[in-house]
Amino acid sequence: MVVLDDAAHAAGLADALVAGGLPVAEVTFRTAAAPDAIRAMADRGDVLVGAGTVLTPAQVDQAVAAGASFVVSPGTSRAVVERCQEHGVLALPGAVTASEVMAALELGVTTVKFFPAGTSGGAPAIAALAAPFGDVGFVPTGGVGPGNLHEYLAIPSVRAVGGSWMVPRDLVRAGELTAVKDLTAAAVALAAA
Ligand code: 3PG
Repeated sequence: MVVLDDAAHAAGLADALVAGGLPVAEVTFRTAAAPDAIRAMADRGDVLVGAGTVLTPAQVDQAVAAGASFVVSPGTSRAVVERCQEHGVLALPGAVTASEVMAALELGVTTVKFFPAGTSGGAPAIAALAAPFGDVGFVPTGGVGPGNLHEYLAIPSVRAVGGSWMVPRDLVRAGELTAVKDLTAAAVALAAA
């Protein structure tokens, strides 16, 4: 989960993610640099790039035009999910309650972002939701880090986790890419363990 202040940082960040063994990035629309950053990373061909914090169908269009392979939203918006389906890109809308999961299912979504995970009950909440929603996948983000990663990954319904701890905004901005690579490699090792 990356917040880029300047699309010029995208190439170095992509190098660090690849070198760290995690060639996947969700570039958020929290900054205006997002479309150009997505394009720069997608054009390389060695990083799976998605768009994050996508709130509107217009942002879906921008993300897809830039080369995003998946679209992440903090909540479930019918308009956003349907625009993703029109484009044929994976939508990962947010859902943290049974009603929100059911709303996502009605739109044909089978994997949801569980956000903000830490303040929405964390791993125990996902385990509880997995009981009635056995076929639903969850991707927790928000408050996930080295200290609790294992709790989430231990749940079979958790398909992946997201987080920003390996790509601190200040390090990326400062070009401290060796540190980003090291944090990324440590996160990969932790997940593998
Ligand atoms: C997200 O949108 O995925 C979260 O804001 C990431 O949260 P984190 O910064 O706590 O990892």
